[in-house]
Amino acid sequence: MPSIKISASVLNSNLAELGKEAAKIAENGVEYVHYDVMDGEFVENITYGSSIQKSILPYTTAKMDTHLMVMHPQRQIKLFADAGSDIITFHVESDCNPDEIIDEIHALGVKAGVAVKPNTPAEAVFPYIEKADMILVMTVEPGYGGQGFIPEMTDKIRLIRAEADRLGKDIDIQVDGGINTETAKLVKEAGANVLVAGTFLFKAENMKTAADSMR
Ligand code: DX5
Ligand code: ZN
Repeated sequence: MPSIKISASVLNSNLAELGKEAAKIAENGVEYVHYDVMDGEFVENITYGSSIQKSILPYTTAKMDTHLMVMHPQRQIKLFADAGSDIITFHVESDCNPDEIIDEIHALGVKAGVAVKPNTPAEAVFPYIEKADMILVMTVEPGYGGQGFIPEMTDKIRLIRAEADRLGKDIDIQVDGGINTETAKLVKEAGANVLVAGTFLFKAENMKTAADSMR
């Protein structure tokens, strides 16, 4: 399994000070800023777009992990590549051609992730394991931070890790939603290695200690 990496979601951070919050992520040794993009259509909530992502780049040395919860991700790829994304993840349930969009992301020199919502079976992402750099297993219904982890998602992680092993691909498997010290243990055992946490890291007294407790 690839090494454990942490991605801090700024969704529930102090958005009026996003630059400072992104700086804090790198200062605490966390690898990624997890940037949740919501369009009010794929999910009911609306967050922020590529121009805001671009504006926080100078404040942090952490890599940008862009999670697109939008109905038409193909329209956003170039914008986010230009706004400094290291990885762009789109949903297999969105209105897109996953093979095409992975190629488009790669052509822009960015890593590609494919996300699945809780009610979508693991098999939906099997065709993309060989081509993608990461599979994101949502462990809550996308839309909001601070929700409870859905324990059944560990089975989905196991199925995806088993299929990746069968294909001989050392792919990153990311989990997102309700991740803390306890649930991190469960998802790592199941085969996940990139752990997104928002509330847990930003509400912690010491972000570094909290992040280390998840590793
Ligand atoms: C939810 C987002 C998550 C969210 C995670 O739709 O994709 O990234 O910020 O927040 P917590 O860690 O609070 O569940
Ligand atoms: Zn997310």
